[in-house]
Formats: sequence, C-alpha cells, structure tokens
Amino acid sequence: MQAVAVTPGEKNSVHLTELPKPRVDEIPDGHGVLVRVLKIGVDATDREINDALYGAAPPGYDFLVLGHESFGIVEEVGPAVTHVVPGDYVTCTVRRPGGSIYDRIGRSDITSEEVYYERGINLLHGFLTEYFVEHSEFVVKMPVGLKHLHVLAEPMSCAAKAVEQIYEAQKRLQVWEPKVAYVTGAGQIGLLATLILRLRGLDVYTLARSPKPCLKAEIAEGLGAKYISTQDTSLSELVEQTGKADLIVEATGNSEIAFESMKLLGHNGAMVWTSITGGQRRVEVQSDHININWVLGNKLLLGSVNANRRHFESGIADLALGEVTYPNVIEKILTSPVHGLDQYNEMMRLLVEDRDALKVFVEVAEG
Ligand code: BGC
Ligand code: ZN
Repeated sequence: MQAVAVTPGEKNSVHLTELPKPRVDEIPDGHGVLVRVLKIGVDATDREINDALYGAAPPGYDFLVLGHESFGIVEEVGPAVTHVVPGDYVTCTVRRPGGSIYDRIGRSDITSEEVYYERGINLLHGFLTEYFVEHSEFVVKMPVGLKHLHVLAEPMSCAAKAVEQIYEAQKRLQVWEPKVAYVTGAGQIGLLATLILRLRGLDVYTLARSPKPCLKAEIAEGLGAKYISTQDTSLSELVEQTGKADLIVEATGNSEIAFESMKLLGHNGAMVWTSITGGQRRVEVQSDHININWVLGNKLLLGSVNANRRHFESGIADLALGEVTYPNVIEKILTSPVHGLDQYNEMMRLLVEDRDALKVFVEVAEG
C-alpha cells in the first residue's frame, strides 16, 4: 500500500513510498484494531519535519511516514477489543509510552523522558497511508454525528489538554473565577481553544494579524468570541478595554509573541504556551519587567504538548457540544482538502504557501 514519507534530516524530501498492509494480529494479545484510513490532517509539525527541523525515522528505516491527525473506519478487530467494532469511525492518540512513571500510568503526554515516541513525528510511522493497525488502548471512537469534523479530533485534543492543564494548575488559588480570556493566534489550535473557552462561558478575545473581514474572524465570532486584528487594535488598547486577561492560550507559532503576550496577563492569571517552534529565533525581552510582574502577580506560565485518550474524549465531547451551540461553524476550519496520497506535493504547497489554509487534510479514501 502507498504511504507519504520523508527522509528525516533531508530538507524537502516528502515522497511516496510502499509499505505492506498491516495485519490485526501484529498487535499482541488480541488487542489489534485495523483501520482503513479515510482522512489525515497535516499541520505545521509536518511542514517542519519536511524542513528537517526535527523528526526521526523508526529504528531500521531510513524514512518516516508522516501524518498524526487520523480519521478512519474500523475494518477488523482482535478478540480482546471491546470498545470499537468494524464500521465504527475512529481516531488515534499520537504518543506511545516510553519508560517513565508517567508513561506507565497512561500519561505518555507528560513523559519525563527526553525521548518521546510519536506516530508520524518521532521514531514511529504515522497514519498518512491506506491502512494502519493500532493497539485498542490508543484508538478513540468518533461518534458518527461528528464524522464531518474528522481530522479535527487530534488538534482538538491538544487544545482540550492545554485548557484542562490551566484549570488543574489554578487549583493552587483555592478560588479562581476567570472572566476574560485571550487566545493569541487563530490557527486551528487557537480557534479550537476559543471554542472550549466559550463553552466554559468566558469572554474570549481571539487575536491574530489578519484584518477583518476574514475567515478567522468569521469563525471566532461564529463561536461567540471577539476577533481582534492586531493590525487594527494594539495590545495596550485591548488591555485598556478589557483589563488584563485572567487566562491566555498562546497559539501563534511565534516565540517572540509568546514572550510579548506575557505582558497581557493579570494578577493570579495563568498562561499556557502550545506552539512548537522548531527554529532558532532569538529576541530581546524585558526580563526585569516580566520577572517583577510575574512575582508580584503570582502568575503562572505553563507549557502543554500532546494529549492522551482522556483529552481526546473531552475534546470530542466539546466538538459535539460546540456543534449544537454554534451550528455549522467548526467545520469552516476544514478549509483545504487534497484528494489522494499522490497529491503530497500539493499538500506541502498548501502548508507552506497558503496563508488562508486553516486546515490542510488529505482525503485518502471515501467512507
Ligand atoms: C501534535 C502533538 C505532538 C506535538 C509535538 C503536534 O503537532 O499535534 O500530538 O505531541 O506536535 O510533536
Ligand atoms: Zn499536530
């Protein structure tokens, strides 16, 4: 069967390769789930892997199959699988356990080891192929009524984890009643975080560069948030209007803005960084200013990566609630389909060049 791969360490090496079709009994003890791939989403991570910024092939291979945002239909299950049956729509978690205590308790998303194993990213082949087989522990059922949101389950899980981590961490305050949230960046993670925070009843301000009217603004406002173009409104003007934020989700993919937006957080606030920035950018920061404000304001900055099964499930539940609360808005994120695995060059072109592409995804098969 066909698969889209890169040669890690070699820039622009995306190509088509062949793999044997996997079998359900490759997974021990009857826990295998064989999935026929329908759609696979790609994001900045795939772009940066193709730019050779990171990414490693599985041992014994000189290529890495891409694709970590999966959506498919179960074709066959092993005898020990209970939560999905053939015909179910499913997605999969991305990270697989290493050896740390967190990995052993089912929290590989917070592994304490430097080496991490992620399908389509690091040391494990991804899903951008025709079939994959997976241990049932990592297979998450998608309700049939959310079929049209397919590849959004994985980015949604990352947004769900980021917001959950903030609420968990803020238990340090005993009482925390956040009202104003800023989301910096209106890519897929920014917009999905906007949705989650709106469903929690916050006043959400979603900040991005593009001036209105634009699709990002249409989606953010469709979700009941206020869209702020940073070309029209300066950050200090915004803070004057709203007061400093109680909570910030940073999702611009720009480390300079990540530091810059630390100024926007109010006392006792919490900010989560979600962007993976594979580059070498260096900026000057007002370190005294940040330091004193952070200390005098008891502020919190945390990083959040990946997501485990629990975050997929809460993310999928929020997609369902989002659909009935803001009908037909979330699907507008799915801007840029590419038809067929052999269109991998077009897939990369959209990722690199198309500034309006919120979500590039490959339609691998009908279903
Ligand atoms: C993926 C996460 C992954 C992270 C770091 C993101 O693009 O969605 O699942 O943990 O990259 O590799
Ligand atoms: Zn991703």
